[in-house]
Amino acid sequence: MKITAQCVRINRKYYEKVLSLIKELGIYRRELKPIIDGDHICIPVNHLDNLGSLLAELTPEAEIEVTVGQFEPRHLYSDYREFVKELIPSDLVALLPRSYDIVGNIALINLPDELLKYGKHVGEAIMKVNKHVKAVYKVGATHGDFRIRELIHLAGDEIYTTIHNEYGVKIYVDLKNSYFNPSLSEDHHRVALEVNEGDRVLDLFAGVGPFSLHILCSKKAYVMANDLNPHAVKCMHKSIYLNRKKLRGIVEIMNSEASSLLNSIRGPYFNRIIMNLPHKSHQYIDGALRVLRTGGVAYVYVVAGDDLNVIEILKEKGCEHSYIIHDVRRILDYAPHKYIYRIKLIKK
Ligand SMILES: C[S@@+](CC[C@H](N)C(=O)[O-])C[C@H]1O[C@@H](n2cnc3c(N)ncnc32)[C@H](O)[C@@H]1O
Repeated sequence: MKITAQCVRINRKYYEKVLSLIKELGIYRRELKPIIDGDHICIPVNHLDNLGSLLAELTPEAEIEVTVGQFEPRHLYSDYREFVKELIPSDLVALLPRSYDIVGNIALINLPDELLKYGKHVGEAIMKVNKHVKAVYKVGATHGDFRIRELIHLAGDEIYTTIHNEYGVKIYVDLKNSYFNPSLSEDHHRVALEVNEGDRVLDLFAGVGPFSLHILCSKKAYVMANDLNPHAVKCMHKSIYLNRKKLRGIVEIMNSEASSLLNSIRGPYFNRIIMNLPHKSHQYIDGALRVLRTGGVAYVYVVAGDDLNVIEILKEKGCEHSYIIHDVRRILDYAPHKYIYRIKLIKK
């Protein structure tokens, strides 16, 4: 449906200048799309008051003319729910999640089961407001040692691999076969900021390698990036290639079980160890402390209800005489009354 509106028609060469003057005058109708008409363009306006000042700024070459045109409305919505609410029963509208994640060109939404039937509409609405998104999935529970999320295809192409960008770092992700959570991006960046030039870092549960990649792209450090999942390791290799022009550090990629890897390292070799396996990280603290230098830092991730619970979980392993707790930070919501915490331990 087109909308009739007053407009200013000008030579296209003057488009930028006239548009900014029209915006300054507060008469621009941004909800309508300007019309291109050969060498001219028609910009929709609310009213023609103050147009004298606009004319005074322009030479006759602008070929300005005041007229009326038929304009197409723009979609100004950035909330996907605006596109879907008419297509689902009204009693379910309140269940539509407000937010969703985007990994590269794939969107992931935690859609309630009641809405699964309308998943295609939801997926298409998300693609409408994010033109670069090519696939939308409903995310379910995270399973197994590899922490892979259950995915149900809702709309778009059935693709699972993509390149995600975090702070300019390219991360190759395979969502079908490995773990990746874009909500951790700030944490990946923060940990990398703490690394010093020359540090030796062990990323014990590296997944597709976001912590390691952030470090390697910003610091001249040595990073050993390890994961048990061979698919995640393959992604790491691809990302190293994708970022090859900006790598500053040196990387060694391993595909080992964490305990075997720790047992294979003789003595305190690392300055920093990242232990991002929230359900189990604490079980590896003693092994990690053995390969950490005095004064070195271990970043241990745990799932806990509150700060006290964090301390209890750490104490389970019973090696608290060997470290100082330097910082406890809540990173992400995990489940009702459960959060992911990052604890910074310093080896005594
Ligand atoms: C929560 S993910 C973290 C991934 C990554 N650090 C990130 O921020 O995206 C935990 C990773 O630990 C790996 N993992 C699980 N058990 C392991 C083990 N025993 N040894 C080594 N890696 C393991 C999984 O394959 C998974 O990729």
